[in-house]
Amino acid sequence: MALRGAFAGRSVRKSTQTPLIGTSRQMADLRQEIERVARSDAKILITGESGVGKEVVAQCIHQQSARAGAAFIAVNCAGLPETLLESELFGHVRGSFTGAYRDKPGKLEIGHEGTVFLDEIGEMTLRMQGLLLRFLETGELQKVGADSGGRIVNVRIIAATNRNLRDLIAQGAFREDLFYRLNVIHLEVPPLRERREDIPVLVDYFLDQFTQDSGCVVRTIGTEPMSILTRYNWPGNVRQLVNVIERIAITGRDQVATVDDLPAEVRVQDGVGFRPKRERRRTVADDLYKRLTEEHESFWSCVYTLYMDREITRGTLREVIRKGLEEARGNYRIVARLFNLEARDYKRFLNFLRKHDCQLPFKEFRQ
Ligand SMILES: Nc1ncnc2c1ncn2[C@@H]1O[C@H](COP(=O)(O)OP(=O)(O)OP(=O)(O)O)[C@@H](O)[C@H]1O
Ligand SMILES: [Mg+2]
Repeated sequence: MALRGAFAGRSVRKSTQTPLIGTSRQMADLRQEIERVARSDAKILITGESGVGKEVVAQCIHQQSARAGAAFIAVNCAGLPETLLESELFGHVRGSFTGAYRDKPGKLEIGHEGTVFLDEIGEMTLRMQGLLLRFLETGELQKVGADSGGRIVNVRIIAATNRNLRDLIAQGAFREDLFYRLNVIHLEVPPLRERREDIPVLVDYFLDQFTQDSGCVVRTIGTEPMSILTRYNWPGNVRQLVNVIERIAITGRDQVATVDDLPAEVRVQDGVGFRPKRERRRTVADDLYKRLTEEHESFWSCVYTLYMDREITRGTLREVIRKGLEEARGNYRIVARLFNLEARDYKRFLNFLRKHDCQLPFKEFRQ
């Protein structure tokens, strides 16, 4: 699927440009702000709930700025332990720690003349905050293991967080001086439920992207399911919407998707033909299923390996398959796609399930 690579949750990645979709007034205002702030070099702090599109906004700013010809580099400050993050940002010199076989430039150096996007800045440790502050004050890169100050680099810093930094400051978990350095311009991206007008536009856009895959039957979303999607609260914002649409594209059986094609979480909130499940503790199977369907891990690399290494039981494997069949309404080919398997692996997948007595009968899942 074309979008997969761009969504993979790696800690550091060069981003491809996603257009900022949305027709609401809030989005129009945001676009104007972006245009305005792209002209300057001032540091920007972008806030907003998880999945609202903070990184997309940062990319748009970079693209419209004079730095567009240079790199846009995103660094997830929550994704790495402190020492690795330090080396990731500032680089290191050979021999500075075990495994440092050669000098390595940091993202701030690679981003020279471009933009460096520091995502989840609220998760940085106080020591890292200190190092970042020193860099922001001097522009000088202190590589890990270097005796003296290094090269001066010119990067534009855009930081983002879904945390309330003022609360973190009050708790002593975030440096106030760093906050004022970063918060020269503040942009807030509103949650999706506060700009519902954007929902149908986003749905159509992503459906179009995902259904370019030849295996997809679905072409459009019917009126009723669209109105349910528009009413839904989207706690995971646009990221959740993208996931839901991808799953409809994979599991939908007709050209026009119906209410039945909507995932349970969306229908439950709307009370359409679905009784909320009793609250229960999350199981290992739930977590594995989430890794497959939301984090796009392949069945082979996550479930299969764990099962073969006896890290999970046959019961758990069966439970994962059961969940897949439920979502795919008993169609094993769709289960294979949900689990990110290549078409040519379908037989191997079924053989594996059969051999380990995990090929559940599909009939009960057909409506
Ligand atoms: N307005 C938008 N137009 C198009 N795609 C969007 C928009 N907003 C968000 N997305 C998509 O939603 C997903 C999440 O966006 P993004 O990574 O920018 O969110 P975020 O606010 O940085 O989330 P987090 O707080 O979890 O880091 C991405 O796949 C992105 O392409
Ligand atoms: Mg982000």
